Amino acid sequence: MTETLYDAIDHYYTEFVHRELQDSSSHFSLRTNEIFRLLDNIDGKQVCDLACGEGYLSRMMAKRDGTVTAVDTSSALLQQARDNSQGYSINFLLDDAQTLHSVADESFDAVVCNMALMDIPDIVSVFQAVNRILKSAGQFIIALLHPCFETPFSVPETTTEVDETGNYVACRILHYNQEGFWQSGGEGIRGKVGAYHRKLSTYLNWLIQAGFTIDEIAEPMLPEAISADSFAAQQNQKIPRSLVVTSTKARTISRR
Ligand SMILES: C[S@@+](CC[C@H](N)C(=O)[O-])C[C@H]1O[C@@H](n2cnc3c(N)ncnc32)[C@H](O)[C@@H]1O
Repeated sequence: MTETLYDAIDHYYTEFVHRELQDSSSHFSLRTNEIFRLLDNIDGKQVCDLACGEGYLSRMMAKRDGTVTAVDTSSALLQQARDNSQGYSINFLLDDAQTLHSVADESFDAVVCNMALMDIPDIVSVFQAVNRILKSAGQFIIALLHPCFETPFSVPETTTEVDETGNYVACRILHYNQEGFWQSGGEGIRGKVGAYHRKLSTYLNWLIQAGFTIDEIAEPMLPEAISADSFAAQQNQKIPRSLVVTSTKARTISRR
């Protein structure tokens, strides 16, 4: 497989994940909690962490006694995942979520794709491939940057509005109707690797058309009652920065 965008930022990305997981008010942690609230019992089940990155979710699923296969296109991140997962029984696979050539039909009880659909150009193919590898009535969870609030922008544009003391006030929605690739130009991940923006309706309609029934949609946020000192925590109390959708394989794939 040729070098991917994440191969060039593998250390940066791994440090980012480990830092975010330390902070229970980060949207990373809030989203992870929601994924595990929605995930069915995986004890003894075959589960796939699709686009696993450095593998934190795979390790959390292995701790819940799932038999975990972790898939990614970045050989550098897969190597980090292996290194970080010593002592865990996880099967690592270098494969493309758009095809999943190395995965047999109907081999998984559950597939979780966490924060990667924005990185992938053809998600209709991803949804079809996941439908193929899931057993009948298998669970498919997607977690992504919230397409309504993490809209495309390019520095010096910004989506955050602050008051005179620098506190978070509101989210500015930019270019919601412009689907396609964008790169913020900032210092964060989306400045480094960019992202594909799609409208909420696009994600959900393509999921349904690929043969999934949507069971629940979650918008993880920090409760107002918790004191929010950091800018990011203030933001997480006002808007959901990620979206989590759980669905069930419902019927055979309908073609585009
Ligand atoms: C933002 S990271 C998320 C990683 C991990 N799921 C997490 O939450 O930390 C996006 C991941 O998607 C992977 N990726 C991008 N395109 C892919 C594809 N076509 N098939 C499989 N993985 C892909 C990247 O290599 C990267 O590990």
